[in-house]
Amino acid sequence: MVALARSQVVMPQGAEASDFEADVLAGLSATPKRLAAKYFYDGVGSKLFERITEVPEYYPTRTEMKILRDNAAEIARLIPPGAALVEFGAGSSKKARILLRAAPALAAYVPVDICREMVEQEAAELRPDFPRLKVLPVVADICFPFELPGEAKAAPARVGFFPGSTIGNFEPHEAAAFLRNAAEILGPGATLIVGADLIKAVDILNAAYNDKAGITAAFNLNLLTRINRELHGTFKLDSFEHHAFYNRGRNRIEMHLASLKRQKVKVAGACFDFRAGETIHTENSYKYSVESLGGLARGVGWLPAGVWTDPDKYFSIQAFRLTGAPPVRPAE
Ligand code: AVI
Repeated sequence: MVALARSQVVMPQGAEASDFEADVLAGLSATPKRLAAKYFYDGVGSKLFERITEVPEYYPTRTEMKILRDNAAEIARLIPPGAALVEFGAGSSKKARILLRAAPALAAYVPVDICREMVEQEAAELRPDFPRLKVLPVVADICFPFELPGEAKAAPARVGFFPGSTIGNFEPHEAAAFLRNAAEILGPGATLIVGADLIKAVDILNAAYNDKAGITAAFNLNLLTRINRELHGTFKLDSFEHHAFYNRGRNRIEMHLASLKRQKVKVAGACFDFRAGETIHTENSYKYSVESLGGLARGVGWLPAGVWTDPDKYFSIQAFRLTGAPPVRPAE
């Protein structure tokens, strides 16, 4: 049994379960229709995402793991002895494990995730493997301010870790807001290590989000299954199709669900009309160059401190350092 009392619970605005209904109704009423990608990750969606990471076309996960393994010693030089490693959106800590092994003088590991069960379970699995490390899970939404545990605040240095190109699922202004929030949480002198997918040949990008086995399509369509189950939806899954394509002008993969015919769908008592071919925009996955991510980071006070890529330049691990006080949050 996992010791729940060990984690801090910080539920920000925007984390309540009822937001799903409000967000879905607002998204389906909007023009064009849209649904937030964060809702992909119910139990089935999380398992489908794990399977996506294993399909041959989806290079990001395996490429990032290899970059981390091949450069672990050098990356670990950015982590001073006694530091606390704070992983934003921890999920599975398999990438953090590479850094934890390469930086044995780390004092604390703080996995932060909105999903309590996930973060507590990962912490419980890590503790026996790293008996000298303090594993201090925090349940929080990484896009909002949250308090670090006292031991992490008291550590001589804090290093943030945000792998997986999750930064690419934020709109650029949200990515900047995340970086600013991370700066405030980690504090002056902190380091941040970010995994970001790189801009590359369009056919490689398109293939990665249109795998032949259809796992990404199932992942996308599962959002409709979730709406049917949780919000009394009447989506017919065979009347919608997965569309994913690279938008060159905006440097992003767009995922949509396209209606195959004119139809009406009910959700939580509300009725929505679909034209044939009309889509629901479900995800953006932005691709960065080393320079464009560096520019975004620099704009909120993070200075470049290291870049590691694979030989094909498909994926990057980029490190940034914060000097002085974190930049002031702009007025809302
Ligand atoms: C989690 N995130 C970085 C994935 C991506 O590549 O944007 C989500 C994903 N969507 C479809 N395939 C993978």
